[in-house]
Amino acid sequence: VNVNQVHRTGYHFQPTKNWINDPNGPMYYNGIYHLFYQYNPKGAVWGNIVWAHSVSKDLINWEKVEHAIIPSKPFDQYGCWSGSATILPGNKPVIMYTGIIDKNNTQVQNYAVPANLSDPYLRVWNKPDNNPLVVADESINMTAFRDPTTAWLGRRRSRDFKNWVKAKHPLHTVAGTGNWECPDFFPVSVRGTNGLDTSVLRGNVKHVLKVSLDATRYEYYTIGTYDTKKDRYIPGKDMVDGWKGLRYDYGNFYASKSFFDPAKNRRVLWGWANESDAVMDDIEKGWAGIQLIPRTIVLDPSGKQLLQWPIEELETLRGNRVELRNNTLEKGERLEIKGITVAQADVEVIFSFGSLDKAEPFDPSWDRYDAQKLCSQKGSTVQGGVGPFGLLTLASENLEEYTPVFFRIFKDQDKHIVLMCSDATRSSLADKSGTYRPSFAGFVDVDLADKKLSLRSLIDHSVVESFGARGKTCITSRVYPTLAIYENAHLYAFNNGTETVKIECLKAWSMERPGLMNH
Ligand code: FRU
Repeated sequence: VNVNQVHRTGYHFQPTKNWINDPNGPMYYNGIYHLFYQYNPKGAVWGNIVWAHSVSKDLINWEKVEHAIIPSKPFDQYGCWSGSATILPGNKPVIMYTGIIDKNNTQVQNYAVPANLSDPYLRVWNKPDNNPLVVADESINMTAFRDPTTAWLGRRRSRDFKNWVKAKHPLHTVAGTGNWECPDFFPVSVRGTNGLDTSVLRGNVKHVLKVSLDATRYEYYTIGTYDTKKDRYIPGKDMVDGWKGLRYDYGNFYASKSFFDPAKNRRVLWGWANESDAVMDDIEKGWAGIQLIPRTIVLDPSGKQLLQWPIEELETLRGNRVELRNNTLEKGERLEIKGITVAQADVEVIFSFGSLDKAEPFDPSWDRYDAQKLCSQKGSTVQGGVGPFGLLTLASENLEEYTPVFFRIFKDQDKHIVLMCSDATRSSLADKSGTYRPSFAGFVDVDLADKKLSLRSLIDHSVVESFGARGKTCITSRVYPTLAIYENAHLYAFNNGTETVKIECLKAWSMERPGLMNH
């Protein structure tokens, strides 16, 4: 056991060393999944950015191949920043990415094509001489002009992917939201769970627009309609656009990109989590950043939000299993889940409660849009009515360290408000400045008629990815325990509410390590 590497993940995607950020250009092509990502070949801090490239047959086991795109031409010699892949008609993949052309970070959009389409891994990518394809005009800030998303086949802008015409107006704008990084724009089926190719514009579809806002480091989305004639995206009437809108994840999840997977007819989302420790820690560890577990995205039957769920292939890594049924948790009770490697585990639990009568009133002065503040005040140890109840992940034996993931239910006139938290404030005894330990939280828009709430947490040494109510609200935390490591990590279910809570069913698995070849 290398003590310096206690926080490396076991089943998440991460290279053996150095810095990574955004997942780029995920795609499925002729039986192979491709993941490119922002990578610094020279160190554990951001810089010298290239497109590293890995390939897989199952999105779980990965093989690293040579970097796909590195600075080499006047149009990208200062960096090859984020972009996307598009499969053009005739089954021809193409990458569009942002090239940095000078020391001021001036940005242009370039393309690259596979040198050899019969290489199943598409190892070598060429940058044709007609690059750059798109440069900023005077109306555009050249240093905030980046991250081209997957192209769709509409009625205008380009017939050949090489010559592009600027639209008269943007697809969509929201005043005062700063630079939109890594936009993603795609259709979702109104009925059923099938994913759709990005160029499906009509029929029973809605569109999703996601942007990564650098100012808050969260990703926001709306669901709406794409008016192909006007070439405008219009968020649905009930959608909140901007800072107060829906988020993919209420924790550490950024610069994500989705793709349509024709092999399984689904849309798959990749997100990146940076480290929450200090830069000096990253340099010491020799690495920084992980890609989170890919998630399928579908439209919730209500049409009001998306649902995210870890791809089913993740279940192939499930090893040892424990199962609990019908255990009650009285006020203040804590139950240990034993028999699996809880530092590297997948846990699914359904909680139920007899009544909602004891739910605390929701104080009207609380900010409905600031779940995180509420969670920081009403932490896992603050006794409530219905909840807090949930899991204590990456816990040391005597709870010097723990990362609780839990629910707390409030009453608000005739309805209920469900708060979900993933609280890193007690996650580590390490007394290091520069470590970020937020009480991440979001609300869960869930029907409590059956008096049940489900939770799934993917625990992996320094990351806890949680999915509330089958993926309605997702929260990812990065944590750095010093005691709760390897076999000294513990997992508990707990209830600190006066209402008794029942574990209807809990299943937990040790997770195996996938093959990560040459990483
Ligand atoms: C988002 C981002 C992108 C940019 C890339 C650079 O994390 O800042 O906007 O293209 O990272 O590595």
